[in-house]
Amino acid sequence: MLDRPKSLKPKPKTQSAIIDDPDFLLVTPEPDEWSRQFCHSPVLPRETLLALQVKPDGRYVDLTLGSGGHSRLILSRLGPKGRLLAIDKDPEALAFAALWGKNDPRLILKRASFDKIDEIFKELKWKPADGLLADLGLSSRQLLGSGRGFSWQKNEPLDMRMDPDSELTAFEVVNSWPAEKLLELIRDKAEERSPYRITKTIVAAREKKPIETTGDLSELLKRVIRRSSGHQALNPATKVFMGIRLAVNLEMEALTTLLKKAPACLKPGANLVVISFQSHEDRQVKRAFTSVEGKKIWDNLFKKPITALRSEIEINRRARSAKMRVGRRKISSEKANK
Ligand SMILES: C[S@@+](CC[C@H](N)C(=O)[O-])C[C@H]1O[C@@H](n2cnc3c(N)ncnc32)[C@H](O)[C@@H]1O
Repeated sequence: MLDRPKSLKPKPKTQSAIIDDPDFLLVTPEPDEWSRQFCHSPVLPRETLLALQVKPDGRYVDLTLGSGGHSRLILSRLGPKGRLLAIDKDPEALAFAALWGKNDPRLILKRASFDKIDEIFKELKWKPADGLLADLGLSSRQLLGSGRGFSWQKNEPLDMRMDPDSELTAFEVVNSWPAEKLLELIRDKAEERSPYRITKTIVAAREKKPIETTGDLSELLKRVIRRSSGHQALNPATKVFMGIRLAVNLEMEALTTLLKKAPACLKPGANLVVISFQSHEDRQVKRAFTSVEGKKIWDNLFKKPITALRSEIEINRRARSAKMRVGRRKISSEKANK
């Protein structure tokens, strides 16, 4: 299987769906002109298409539109009767899709959070679909080019909202959340080893003056967080920034809800494909597919998550931490989920 690390090869009993497809051996497609313009390349592009098993007349949902890289790949496999519903909570993604997708009657755009998938289906009168895709987290454009304070690499106001109309901002979390709530965030969402020390430092600093920018916060964190030698590459601010972003955008909560609602939005035998970049998200998806309850609804197609080939990582570094899981809605679960 080319150069995929041995430990992450899919189990033999489940690999046939993807590996037997001759397309699998084609090289990773280069990001197209639109992806380059948006500064975001879709990860695991071939694997996503194969995992979704796109049929020309099928109806699919891209729950995380972003630059539309995955959406355009799905559209490239759809015939004139096929449909793609593409959702994002960030209006910039929708505005961009209005450019690249403006003449495509197969594409339906919706600004919403994907945890409202059931309501969106109802509103659009959609029946269960042939496949759902969630490529979680932020696009590279949001992280580095949005000016919305997602990254410690830039000095910007503390915002971090994917949906700029939502109420909670990173400024409010950092400056107004009670210490206990902040501690919980730093312990459970950021998974920092010294949550008490970090919380105490933030609380002491904000008592003197508000922590206004990503630069202020990152300087503060640099002083209090020391990485062991194994973590040299990780900036001290990375995990706390991620924890705050997860809290501001209710990301873990949205994923939990999506995993509960997805079966009712899929035809029996259709696949839910989830690409995650954080270990806790991958654990959440794995648990949904493999828990005692989950096994009644899903066939977990791969015991280990699918990861990017070295050839893809060479052209897209973001792909190095991508983990894809595929759950197939069981045929027999049809009644149980109505
Ligand atoms: C990693 S990017 C997706 C990139 C996309 N697959 C592509 O090829 O360009 C994730 C996108 O999902 C959006 N997003 C994250 N959580 C969301 C949610 N709960 N509901 C809707 N969109 C969400 C983000 O705004 C971002 O645009």
